[in-house]
Amino acid sequence: MTTTSTAAPAALPETSILAAEAVKALAAVGVDLDDHRGDAVATTPITGGGLTSLAWRSTHDVAVAVDRAHAAHLQWRDAPAPARGALVKRLGQIIAAHTDQLATLIQLEVGKTRTEAVGEVVEIVDMCDLAVGLSRQLNGNTLPSERPQHRILETWQPLGVLGLITAFNFPAAVWGWNTAIALVCGDTVVWKPSEATPLTALACQAMLRQACEQAGVPADLGQVAVGGRDVGESLVDHPLVALVSATGSVRMGQQVGERVARRFGRVLLELGGNNAGIISASADLDLAVPASVFAAAGTAGQRCTTMRRAIVHNSVKDQFVDRVAAALERLPVGNPFDKQTVVGPLINNSSWQAMQAALATARKDGGVVVAGDRRHLAQEAPEAFYASPTLVTMPSQTALMHEETFAPILYVVGYDDFDEAIALNNAVPQGLSSCIFTRDVNETEAFMSAAGSDCGILNVNIGTSGAEIGGAFGGEKQTGGGRESGSDSWKAYMRRTTATINASGKLALAQGVTFEM
Ligand code: UN1
Repeated sequence: MTTTSTAAPAALPETSILAAEAVKALAAVGVDLDDHRGDAVATTPITGGGLTSLAWRSTHDVAVAVDRAHAAHLQWRDAPAPARGALVKRLGQIIAAHTDQLATLIQLEVGKTRTEAVGEVVEIVDMCDLAVGLSRQLNGNTLPSERPQHRILETWQPLGVLGLITAFNFPAAVWGWNTAIALVCGDTVVWKPSEATPLTALACQAMLRQACEQAGVPADLGQVAVGGRDVGESLVDHPLVALVSATGSVRMGQQVGERVARRFGRVLLELGGNNAGIISASADLDLAVPASVFAAAGTAGQRCTTMRRAIVHNSVKDQFVDRVAAALERLPVGNPFDKQTVVGPLINNSSWQAMQAALATARKDGGVVVAGDRRHLAQEAPEAFYASPTLVTMPSQTALMHEETFAPILYVVGYDDFDEAIALNNAVPQGLSSCIFTRDVNETEAFMSAAGSDCGILNVNIGTSGAEIGGAFGGEKQTGGGRESGSDSWKAYMRRTTATINASGKLALAQGVTFEM
């Protein structure tokens, strides 16, 4: 490992300049930081410095927030769903009008490039549009009854308070796609954002508050509790939190799942991914190479949909490795506010350490680092961690490759037989996203068949990341099984009632049962 890059990025800004940007962006969305000062610190991965001091909420604050959210739900559930949609429409408009400021906060707290940060805001606005349409389509079924002049109606009813726990990497979008749907479903929200992204959360919350004011509905519909693990735990354990939607590590999800199950609450889990791309012998490498580079290195490898494994047919493996490695080496790593930067920093030192530990293990396992594995800007900002996207060829799919390391490392393994490629794709404990690059229709169909990829997301001639909001987002196995965003994911935010109505004037029992009195 070397500590300087051959293509040294431009100098980093002073943390004080970034802090001033944060204050400006927050003020523009109606957040006065003086109302939120406290003992914790909001930091930026761009320099590793502190942007502002901040108050963390206590478990008592969470209990108060849940009580308020529950009281708000008791009113909100009676509002017609299209009226609930009108609030979400307003929310989407306010967020769209503040795209610049929200994107800036995402950049400051996560280190995303401008285009990715703006894309994240677009994702929320799109979700609001989807939710507004949905507010007129929360359809149930009418089912035939076996009894004369009887009818069975399925109706979807609001569920209650949603406890939302989000990760640092999509600090606004995951809030947006949960909140937009929850609100049209008649639920209310108490949100615990990542410790790394409290300012983005305060901004989102302020915009929701404005939307509530403008729509003339109670602001208690959505609340934020910035804080640590205890805040998350009290949300998880609160009996009035009907659904806990949590995004994060498998370990976190296991704890959330167990604790919520104990009180018979509901969970929606979006946990680890360990996503592979299969590059078949017939792949168009002009597509597969740039798609893999974006999927592996975009967001500095910190998406749950990041491509972490490339399973490449041995006939094209050398060519694929050479081209991806050359492209990774050329990617400008550095300050995400610089226009030419395409890879920003890792979120913190422990991500950097995890990346280094993984690479040490990979080498021990016989892996060869073909590109990357450098740290940039180490002297200028010792608390900022800029990692070169790294490609490692592996002799086989080792135990290390069964783990998710939240950093830009792409492991490459070869295959000869298509079934072997599918087996490698499915061999890991996680099951979020997968993709195949092929021009062979039979391979495409096999990849998508029941015996094909076991993931929730299957892409053909597209990388593993960057899902559209219209589909259901989520995955199987240790990814947790939850589905968020589009399609019929809204059903997780509602409860189903089955009503049977007898209009015959006679008592008829189901299954032909008789009961003589
Ligand atoms: C995440 O990384 O938690 O599919 C969400 C994608 C984005 C969402 C990622 N639309 O990459």
